[in-house]
Formats: sequence, structure tokens, C-alpha cells
Amino acid sequence: MAIMPGLLPPSRETWETACTLFKFFPVITAFQWVLDWYPQGKTSTESRFNISGKWGWATMESAGFMTLLYTMFTLPKELGLDSLPWGNWTMAGCFVIHYIYRAIISPLFLNPSMSPMHPLVWILAFTFQMFNGISIAGYLAGYGPTSDHDWAGRYWSMEIGLVMWAWGLLGNMFHEDDLREIRRAADRTQRREAEKQGKPAQSVDKVYMIPKNGLFQYVLYAHYLCEWIEWAGWWMIGGWNCIPARTFLVNEVATMLPRAVQGKRWYEKKFGKDKVGNRKAVIPGLV
Ligand SMILES: NC(=O)c1ccc[n+]([C@@H]2O[C@H](COP(=O)([O-])OP(=O)(O)OC[C@H]3O[C@@H](n4cnc5c(N)ncnc54)[C@H](OP(=O)(O)O)[C@@H]3O)[C@@H](O)[C@H]2O)c1
Repeated sequence: MAIMPGLLPPSRETWETACTLFKFFPVITAFQWVLDWYPQGKTSTESRFNISGKWGWATMESAGFMTLLYTMFTLPKELGLDSLPWGNWTMAGCFVIHYIYRAIISPLFLNPSMSPMHPLVWILAFTFQMFNGISIAGYLAGYGPTSDHDWAGRYWSMEIGLVMWAWGLLGNMFHEDDLREIRRAADRTQRREAEKQGKPAQSVDKVYMIPKNGLFQYVLYAHYLCEWIEWAGWWMIGGWNCIPARTFLVNEVATMLPRAVQGKRWYEKKFGKDKVGNRKAVIPGLV
């Protein structure tokens, strides 16, 4: 049964409109190049409207993979398809694995703390997720390839893409854990001090240091870079003509690149240019 007929699961017309509109998302994110106001994470601001960082991330980032799962299990029946090819399920599985980590495991179980976010950031990220979810779900659940024949002859590029996707995801997790370790270490130190002084330990919210391990030696946003590698690999699994995968990657870069460049300015202001050294924002040796 359709939750919202024509929208969820999407009709072909809705899907095509969503795919077209989503290509223009970089126009919205272009404001990040000229505006330093970005009320989330390092640059969060105090506001009585703020949403908890952990719950904000969990709710906004769940929208895409839930839309995908729901559509994968409902649209084929509406279209009279008996089953979907294994290539479609492979891509859907990769997407769901990433977002279970990003939306559930990372914010709710692993991250020691996350700065609050302004509702505007939540709304934009939720909108991104819904458009992305519909665009990818429509493609994988019936409007894109519908038989194993459509995937035939592309096994090498699919395998290389899958390997890239997996390394990208692992790299993203590794570098995020390096950031977590900064707060875990600060928490251990503060607890030791507090125990000595017989006082309650202070919170580690907003404790920042320059990360130094892995690719952080070269770029301040190594986790972003790894995420781009991950989604570039995923596009490769889908193939050159998998437009929803291409739009997703382009839109991620369009929003994360200015954020990383802004983040580099933030690091230089907080720690000094000499401490940041030769590190680039996100692409080694370039940006
Ligand atoms: N931001 C985007 O537009 C976007 C889009 C798509 C995907 N993603 C992915 O989502 C993940 C999180 O993105 P994000 O923009 O929130 O990344 P982020 O700003 O680097 O923050 C990630 C986490 O690490 C903490 N943190 C960041 N820098 C730290 C430092 N120097 N020392 C100690 N702790 C630090 C943050 O705490 P605070 O919250 O307190 O700062 C937050 O909990 C990334 O892996 C990224 O690839 C992000």
C-alpha cells in the first residue's frame, strides 16, 4: 500500500521531476562560498530553536535510506515486476549500510558529542535526503535497470566500484574515529583530573584539536575525501549512465567542498596558520 500515492513510492513523473530538480541543488549550496554563517558543528551558534546534534543527524540522515527501502519493497509490485536484478540490490545494500552507520550508529552510539544545529540546517539536509532518496530509489526500484541482462558485461567495473566503495567507507569511518578519539582522550583526562580534585568531570562538548593521523596529515577533512571516494565507487557500480548516482556525488561535493574550505579557515583562526601547516582543506596538494 502506498503511503502517499504518486509520491511514496514515486510515480515515474514524480521520479523524473525529482531527478531534474535535484540536479540544481548546487545552486542552493553555492551560498556557502560567500556566507560564513553555517549554524552546525564547529560553527554552530546559540539559538533557542537549536536541535540536538545527535538527534538532528539521526533524523535528517535517516530519510534517504528509509525512502529507498520502502520504495524497493513497494514500487516493483506497482509496476508488475516479479523481482529486481541483483545489481540493483547491491547498490541499495551499499546505500543502506552507509546510512545505518551515518544516521544511527555514528551519532547515537559512537560520537562522544555533537554540536547542536539550527533547524534550517536540518531542513536543508532532510530535503537533500528526500530528493536523493526518491531519485535513487526510483532508479533502483523499477525505472532504471529491471533485469540481470541490463547489468551484463559490466562485471569488472562493478567489482572495482565495489572495492572503491568499501575502501571509501572504511576510510571515512577510520578518520571519523580519529576525531572521536580526540574527545574520548579529553574525557579520560578530565575525569582523572576531576577525580583528583573531587569535582564532577566537565563535558567534552566543543573540545577541538587538529587531527593528525592517516590522511589528516595532508588534509583537514580526510573523512569528506573518503566519502567522495566511496560514492565515486558507488557510481562506478551503477555505471556511467546511472544519473542518480552521479547527481548524488556532484551534490555531495557541492555542499562539502565549501564547508571544508570554510573549515580550514576555522582551523587557521583557532589554532594559527603555523599549526595547520601545509595541510589543504580536502584534496591533498590542491584545495
Ligand atoms: N556536512 C556535510 O555537508 C556532509 C554532507 C554529506 C556527508 N557528510 C558526512 O557526515 C560526516 C559528518 O560530517 P560533519 O560535517 O559533521 O563533519 P565534522 O564537522 O568534521 O564533524 C564530525 C564529528 O567530529 C567532531 N569533530 C570535528 N572536528 C573535530 C576536531 N577537530 N576535534 C574534535 N572533534 C571534532 C564533530 O563535533 P562537533 O559536532 O561538536 O563539531 C562531530 O561530532 C562526515 O563523515 C561527512 O563525510 C557531511
